[in-house]
Amino acid sequence: MRLQKVLAQAGVASRRAAEDLIAAGRVEVDGSIVVEQGLRVDPENAVIRVDGIRVVVKKDLVHLVLNKPRGWQSTMSDDLGRPCVGDIVSERVAAGQRLFHVGRLDADTEGLLLLTNDGELAHRLMHPSFEVPKTYLATVKGVLARGVGKQLKAGIELEDGPASVDEFALLEVHEGQSLVRLVLHEGRKHIVRRLLDAVGHPVIRLVRTNIGPVALGDQRPGTLRVLGRNEVGGLYQAVKL
Ligand code: URA
Repeated sequence: MRLQKVLAQAGVASRRAAEDLIAAGRVEVDGSIVVEQGLRVDPENAVIRVDGIRVVVKKDLVHLVLNKPRGWQSTMSDDLGRPCVGDIVSERVAAGQRLFHVGRLDADTEGLLLLTNDGELAHRLMHPSFEVPKTYLATVKGVLARGVGKQLKAGIELEDGPASVDEFALLEVHEGQSLVRLVLHEGRKHIVRRLLDAVGHPVIRLVRTNIGPVALGDQRPGTLRVLGRNEVGGLYQAVKL
């Protein structure tokens, strides 16, 4: 398929505008800038970038955001019959999509869970070496003393080794509880709960609001949304794909 048509089908621009992008040297196919028009590419295998950002042109790739409700398991099926993410995507799975959830949230944790059928993307997003930042809002017991943020940034010794946060902010204090925002780039089990426990502020409610360039926004619990082209491009960029 011709490159300008592939770009148009991926929603980058009209065919005419895609030709302008190509002529301007802004389009890269498999690592090389292409300036001539009409290059034939295979959308199933070509790696295409516009201004250095990956444009996913493979038709069957899916990237979804779920706002996982509290009390739901992150798994695609549950032996004990508890509500799980697989229930929410059951129609897609029945239609043959092989979706992976990117990491897990505790059953008690709400918020942003990415689902995709791109195994390499999922793998890299879960790998700490790519350092994709994840943001959480936590309501904790107690009124935070000064210095707790500093302590968390400096690192805390947990039973499976040290852990730290990249950013920390106290947002609100209300009736003996504090609302804090934390950014971390790792995903060990219960990591946020364990860190906050360790500084004496057990978690009452935990919500993940962002993973790299993707934000939960006002998406309602239990709903799925297809990621936008820029969000998908940003995710691939974040893990160097
Ligand atoms: N940290 C936790 O403690 N729980 C989650 O679900 C995610 C991060």
